[in-house]
Amino acid sequence: MPGIDDLVQRAAGLVQPDRRALLGICGAPGAGKTSLARTVVKRLRAAGVPVAHVPMDGFHLADAALRERGQLAAKGAIQTFDVHGYLSLLRRLRTERDHDVLAPDFERTLEQPLAAAIIVPPATQIVVTEGNYLLDDTDAWPLVRAELDEVWFVDLDDGRRRSRLVERHVKFGKDRAAAQAWVDEVDEPNARRVIARRDTADLVITEPARG
Ligand SMILES: Nc1ncnc2c1ncn2[C@@H]1O[C@H](COP(=O)(O)OP(=O)(O)OP(=O)(O)O)[C@@H](O)[C@H]1O
Ligand SMILES: [Mg+2]
Repeated sequence: MPGIDDLVQRAAGLVQPDRRALLGICGAPGAGKTSLARTVVKRLRAAGVPVAHVPMDGFHLADAALRERGQLAAKGAIQTFDVHGYLSLLRRLRTERDHDVLAPDFERTLEQPLAAAIIVPPATQIVVTEGNYLLDDTDAWPLVRAELDEVWFVDLDDGRRRSRLVERHVKFGKDRAAAQAWVDEVDEPNARRVIARRDTADLVITEPARG
């Protein structure tokens, strides 16, 4: 199993002189995608590689749009993401190198996307993007996959993954029973869908180290 140094080296290997690299990190809810992306980004930056972290989570539909579509209860499911917006941002990140590209983030306290929260300056040589559905084979998701140089899949056993998710929901304000119910009823079907695509990844990472 590759350690964090191997992963950082592999990410650095995607960098090319005249083409911005795009690395995807995929995995079920709570598997550790964001934590791994942050670690890889921190290490690349420390090694002098200009890098940005642009999560797919910024393309969550806002509650206002979910309400209009009657999808508020499904928040987090594949249809509650703006896949075309995400695809177009990935293409812009690849091609628009003469100005900053602004990307949305997901604000966890508000549980809403936040436009233009992340600045990707022209010098950025590699963008690390991460989210649940990068490997999905429906709708425009295969086009997203086609924009990415590599996609890594973060795999964590279901027991630990689910208990981390419950803890995070509690940390951000849900009571424990509501957190448990959300993980069982909302996150779990999404997790099964994501995990079904694991073997299409370029690399499967079991229990990535933090640091
Ligand atoms: N190696 C680890 N050891 C212990 N806890 C971890 C580790 N990696 C991540 N966590 C914790 O597990 C939770 C989920 O991790 P993270 O947010 O990185 O997952 P994610 O795949 O991005 O989740 P989501 O799909 O919901 O965005 C977080 O609260 C994080 O602090
Ligand atoms: Mg995350």
